[in-house]
Amino acid sequence: MALGLGGVEGVAGHVARRIRASGAPVTAEPHVPVLLDEVLAALDPRPGELIVDGTFGAGGYTRAILSAGARVLAVDRDPAAVERGRALARAEPRLTMMEGRFGALDAHAAEAGHARVDGVVLDIGVSSMQLDEAERGFSFRRDGPLDMRMGGEGPSAADLVATLPEAALADVIFRYGEERHSRRTAAAIVRRRAERPITRTGELAELVASVVGRSWKDRIDPATRTFQALRIAVNRELEELAHGLAAAERALKPGGRLLVVTFHSLEDRIVKQFLAERSRVAQGSRHAPAVAGAPPTFAPITRKAVQPSEAEAEANPRARSAKLRAARRTDAPARQLDLRGLGVPTLEELTRGGRR
Ligand SMILES: C[S@@+](CC[C@H](N)C(=O)[O-])C[C@H]1O[C@@H](n2cnc3c(N)ncnc32)[C@H](O)[C@@H]1O
Repeated sequence: MALGLGGVEGVAGHVARRIRASGAPVTAEPHVPVLLDEVLAALDPRPGELIVDGTFGAGGYTRAILSAGARVLAVDRDPAAVERGRALARAEPRLTMMEGRFGALDAHAAEAGHARVDGVVLDIGVSSMQLDEAERGFSFRRDGPLDMRMGGEGPSAADLVATLPEAALADVIFRYGEERHSRRTAAAIVRRRAERPITRTGELAELVASVVGRSWKDRIDPATRTFQALRIAVNRELEELAHGLAAAERALKPGGRLLVVTFHSLEDRIVKQFLAERSRVAQGSRHAPAVAGAPPTFAPITRKAVQPSEAEAEANPRARSAKLRAARRTDAPARQLDLRGLGVPTLEELTRGGRR
């Protein structure tokens, strides 16, 4: 389950801290796939079809798709998730598990011998296993090394916090965390790191809380937005999402289905904008009969974002901010990806001088 603002980490952070303070262990929450019925209804996997699950995680979607009789090519960038998938694939010949990023899912499909696929499903964000394991460094309520790398490669959150200039740090926290106290937060980080390196999630969470404070109407932990920003920066999550959408456009057969589940507004905006642009039909009028435009590459399956039922949101707080969008591939040729047009601020742009 991915967490966005308002996810269980935010809502329950203080409860968890109180439990920890009382000496009782903080237990891992079980992993429950989000919007599973809605995903299956829109994906409609059939026996013999090939579906790419670009975010295997705990395999909740993959298992359900296999149960419907389809084959699954599962991808995850996290070696621990890949290990789980390989164990499942040993008992299930219709599953192929690959380590990699969904931004290159068309290349992964080609490598596995599939030029085109019948469906792509992406469940964006962090899994509960990643969040629950303090050593991964994603959590502000479980102290651990300030890491946050899903794939273990590239700079960690501690590296970014240690090296980004103050203005770039503020821009990252503002754009990827939507934190209005970004400048104050960045200044406090820079002051602290001049004294000693910030290497633990607990230390960063306390520092951010001391700067941001908590207003009576805040439902989330004060560190939520800064942690979200660093996680997105470390894993290039928004860029990766945009590349994943374009890769799915290239990989899907005509009639193939694309489904994306997101957990915060930055991600949902990218998916919404991509699908709106790709499904727009150029309209002529009496006055301008021949308006040129590329033919749509997708047709919507869901008109509006699908959100969890009250019962699901009640049973699984992590589902509360989830949104599902789905579309069907047409036979029009895939287009070039325009990151700027999608409004995706890249880490390079933010660290080069910002795009506020
Ligand atoms: C929310 S979980 C998926 C849960 C899954 N749908 C299930 O039912 O168990 C997200 C997973 O996506 C993986 N992930 C995130 N970004 C990725 C990327 N760009 N490429 C591949 N995997 C990614 C994470 O490592 C994590 O395991």
